[in-house]
Amino acid sequence: MSSTTHPTAAGATSASSASSALTHTNQRVLITAAASGIGLATAQGFLAAGAKVFICDVNAEQLARTLQEQPLMAGMVCDVSDEAQVAGLFEVALQTLGGLDILVNNAGIAGPTALIEDISLQDWRQCLAVNLDAAFLCARQAARILRKQGSGSIVNMASTAGLYGFPRRAPYASAKWAIRGLTKTLAQELGPAGVRVNCICPGSVAGERIDRVIAAEAKKTGQSEDEVRTFLAQSASLKTFILAQDIADMIVFVTSEKGARISGQDLIVDGNTETL
Ligand SMILES: NC(=O)c1ccc[n+]([C@@H]2O[C@H](COP(=O)([O-])OP(=O)(O)OC[C@H]3O[C@@H](n4cnc5c(N)ncnc54)[C@H](O)[C@@H]3O)[C@@H](O)[C@H]2O)c1
Repeated sequence: MSSTTHPTAAGATSASSASSALTHTNQRVLITAAASGIGLATAQGFLAAGAKVFICDVNAEQLARTLQEQPLMAGMVCDVSDEAQVAGLFEVALQTLGGLDILVNNAGIAGPTALIEDISLQDWRQCLAVNLDAAFLCARQAARILRKQGSGSIVNMASTAGLYGFPRRAPYASAKWAIRGLTKTLAQELGPAGVRVNCICPGSVAGERIDRVIAAEAKKTGQSEDEVRTFLAQSASLKTFILAQDIADMIVFVTSEKGARISGQDLIVDGNTETL
């Protein structure tokens, strides 16, 4: 496992302390799978709010590019579905950040697009490993620190697939449904210690990931990609995809002082899904 740390991560606080909108000054934030997509938008949101940010990603090349473009972030390569790598991640992240206040369990993969009778056990397990095992492994590490500290916040990434189910995406929907159970239970276990745990349920988020999901669904069902895209957008009352920034804003809000009494919740950012 290679690692890249950046000495100026701590500088994020002083660099932006002129802003009156800082909600996370000196807060130490670890975000998984944040070299791109929603995780990266969230990392940028925390930096803008005055936090120190450590990210990880399994994609070494993408991570290196991101750290080069984001000199205030620190990070390392880590497959968060691997127990030993997660232990290594927490060691380096804690050392770099000087502790931990917020964990964002963002990692997740789409998994196979197929009816259940055509899904292999290997694909099922891989999907659950990245979407669910990773959240367990990271939350377990964080709980040991945050419970002792008597403060902090964990945010897990679920999905509207974990609220409504999703035909041809059984492993993904099952994992995201389980994330909500993990969230509720950890909120109960850690609440008395002053630690909050919430999960986010995004609808379809504009970006490369949903493009891949749409392509796979079109191929499987014989529809055009435009038809699948239109169906997904039309399934929400607001008739539009969500932006990664919308998710980042919700995470920054719920982990701030303004969210101090919010725990154990599914925070749904989806334009109000009517059907899936
Ligand atoms: N994009 C959407 O429409 C959408 C909707 C609902 C929920 N979500 C959830 O939001 C989260 C982020 O989604 P996204 O669209 O940004 O994802 P993405 O597919 O764009 O991937 C983001 C990053 O995750 C990294 N990654 C993948 N497997 C990893 C692993 N094992 N360890 C570490 N890093 C890993 C990738 O390298 C990538 O840089 C996921 O949990 C996803 O399920 C996404």
